[in-house]
Amino acid sequence: MSASYIMALDLGTTGNRAIIFDQTGQVVAQSYKELTQYYPEPGWLEHDPREIWDDIRWAARGVLEKAKVPASAIAAIGLTVQRETCLLWDKETGRPHHNAIVWQDRRTAPLCNELRAAGKADEIYDRTGLVLDAYFSATKLAWLLDHIKQYTDPPLYMEKTLAGTVDTWVLWNMTGGKVHATDHSNASRTMLLNLQGHDWDPNLLEMFGIPRSIMPEVKPSLGLFGYTDPDFLGVEIPIMSVFGDQQAALFGHGCDSPGALKCTYGTGAFLVAHTGDKILRTNHELLSTIAWSVAGDGKPQVGYAVEGAMFTAGACIQWLRDGIRVISHAADTEPLAKRIGTNGGVYFVPALSGLGAPHWDMSARGSFMGITGGTRREHLIRAVLEAIAYEVKEVVDAVNAGAATPIKELKVDGGACQNDFLMQFQADVLGIPIERPAILDTTAQGAAFAAGLASGYWNDYRALVAARGIERVFEPNANASAARENYAMWKKAVERSKNWCE
Ligand code: G3P
Repeated sequence: MSASYIMALDLGTTGNRAIIFDQTGQVVAQSYKELTQYYPEPGWLEHDPREIWDDIRWAARGVLEKAKVPASAIAAIGLTVQRETCLLWDKETGRPHHNAIVWQDRRTAPLCNELRAAGKADEIYDRTGLVLDAYFSATKLAWLLDHIKQYTDPPLYMEKTLAGTVDTWVLWNMTGGKVHATDHSNASRTMLLNLQGHDWDPNLLEMFGIPRSIMPEVKPSLGLFGYTDPDFLGVEIPIMSVFGDQQAALFGHGCDSPGALKCTYGTGAFLVAHTGDKILRTNHELLSTIAWSVAGDGKPQVGYAVEGAMFTAGACIQWLRDGIRVISHAADTEPLAKRIGTNGGVYFVPALSGLGAPHWDMSARGSFMGITGGTRREHLIRAVLEAIAYEVKEVVDAVNAGAATPIKELKVDGGACQNDFLMQFQADVLGIPIERPAILDTTAQGAAFAAGLASGYWNDYRALVAARGIERVFEPNANASAARENYAMWKKAVERSKNWCE
């Protein structure tokens, strides 16, 4: 029998990637393109859905060429995406009605404030497990619907309109417009899914003015979603898994039982812990969400998680590079931070899109504090890296506060993990080991594992996870007292950055 492979499509906030995995779970080839970020107003962020579709098609075709693998050798595709980002499109023309509104976009903060003032926050939390915040899709979809109603007759228009998160948009395009669906892990991030009922909540659809008819079908994360249209890669390939990217990384790390957790340092930092078949509530600091679901004979099996979502991590490093241009490459931050022995009293608050867990302050904004005439570029850079580690510490503390036993080690992944300074500093401030895998693309790996297992290409999840390999473990340095002591100063800076643009 000729060799066959699994393809993972990973559509992240800052770029789209296709990776081919072989039978041993190793990467054969990958193809990646950065995605344009549109900032129409301060605090707003949009993506062009046509660019997302064009780029992932380009990446999927490109990776086949690089790997010298025919499309007919792909046994299954796994799809994983940035979550919450959403859009509306015309099902007849396939044209988006507007750019997608990205998860980091804060334009709907006033609507959230109105809902909070109307006493809706508790009901939303009870139904969805989510904190009322502009982060999630519901208020973004409401904004988009309002926007399109301004220039057309709504009832007529609605018949032709489809709504979705990025997975739904790409799945619809990959299947030639045949499949309008999402999975439980993505759906649980919209603020429209009932966490216990596992389907769209009629009360929430009504609260946000969203017709059910435009919403996708919610399906198990592992299972058949449909077949690719031959227009995509020339052949029909089964799409066997769809995952939100943070849940895919959780799956890739092998965290499938209560208490198993990981932290992904991507655009944001996302610490997610599996909680088994139980919904764990943490007093509005952490999110209760769906980890993933598996198609069964009857009802799907649904696993839950708690999550600490921190909006800016790698995005701060990207801002140092592209926004204020104090570095040329993200990797420059490591030697520059190491060049100075301390942060020189400088602290950074990574609230470029407001603050997520555990603060949930949409009106906080980023800041540097403690700057003096002696502050150098290196201090600013080091303060940014330290801030990423401190925000993760806050979330680890919040998880520990609600757990019977404290977290003993942290599995990590994502681009920013390459930074040894950041990882060592993280181990120092947490006082626990940090375990870095050999392949940092755990998100894509998770989607591939899921697609391969759901299609019968693989049958041993544990063996796949075990074969991944640990590249390095960062042990906490007993002499790192300054790193821990400075945490109190950093928290003070965070408090001063809150309620900035009310
Ligand atoms: O919730 C947002 C998250 O899914 C984005 O992930 O990888 O683009 O930082 P990433």
